[in-house]
Amino acid sequence: MSTTIHQHTRTQHNQDEYSSRSAVERFNSTRPAAVGEVIVQLMFEYLKKYGKLDGKNLGCLLDVACGNGKTTKLLAKHFQRAIGVDSSAEQIALAVRCNISEQVEFHCSPAEKLPVADHTVDVITSIFGLHYFDVKTFIPECRRVLKQDGIALFYAEKTFKIISRDNDDLPAIYDEVSAMNKKLCERAREISHPSANIVCDLHWAQFQEIDYKDKERIETTSVLETTLGEWGSQYLSIPAMQRLCSNPAENPVTELMHAVKILWSKEHLASSSINIKMVSHCVLIALKN
Ligand SMILES: C[S@@+](CC[C@H](N)C(=O)[O-])C[C@H]1O[C@@H](n2cnc3c(N)ncnc32)[C@H](O)[C@@H]1O
Repeated sequence: MSTTIHQHTRTQHNQDEYSSRSAVERFNSTRPAAVGEVIVQLMFEYLKKYGKLDGKNLGCLLDVACGNGKTTKLLAKHFQRAIGVDSSAEQIALAVRCNISEQVEFHCSPAEKLPVADHTVDVITSIFGLHYFDVKTFIPECRRVLKQDGIALFYAEKTFKIISRDNDDLPAIYDEVSAMNKKLCERAREISHPSANIVCDLHWAQFQEIDYKDKERIETTSVLETTLGEWGSQYLSIPAMQRLCSNPAENPVTELMHAVKILWSKEHLASSSINIKMVSHCVLIALKN
């Protein structure tokens, strides 16, 4: 197991309100390009390690849960052909609308039934996607579509920490937010949906469940500047959280955001908007066919 640290910074939007209606779209549109680039760079380090990059372009890429296709396009530069799939028709429509490359195609399809012929794919990627899938169906699908020496790379967030933009630890905020986050996760865990895994830090269990002989789990740390609103939207891009927050009278994500605002104003009276750094502990899962 290895650990690497990546830093991303971004222009701040002074926005403390999150939108629940188009959470996935918002997550995709607000995520800074730098994050995608860092993930792509990390993935390519592992492709190199597996002897997949020897100066020539790779054959076929399949990016599962590609969302609006932003990261698919970054990855696609290194492939002769790239296919992005997502179960959301809206996301695929966005991806198609912004696509100018003939080498890249997008399809609306679930991860559990990939619209690709047997043994035709060199590399499968999924970024912030695995926790949404029925892994028991998805993994055999990966095996079916990958070529004999094909590789699958899955990237996911595991835990996070809040620090100030000046890199100060904020123990008062962090301790309280962690306790609230833990409670939120326990409640999400009671919801029967695979996406509860991401908020419950069960990636390790999910990894162990994967029936692949050649598999590796790499831990990595990312630092991302974000706003309270974006952070809230990311919570609500997770289906288990959406179900937990379906009652507007008792919405635990809104309560968490409200509590952070109060804690923040106690510590940083001069600051009108909450700009935080999330130190995310991420996991890259690599499978080799
Ligand atoms: C957090 S977004 C990640 C998007 C993209 N990979 C990125 O990093 O920008 C998760 C995506 O998973 C898609 N999704 C959820 N369940 C899925 C499934 N079973 N099959 C395919 N896509 C799914 C959602 O529609 C959403 O676009």
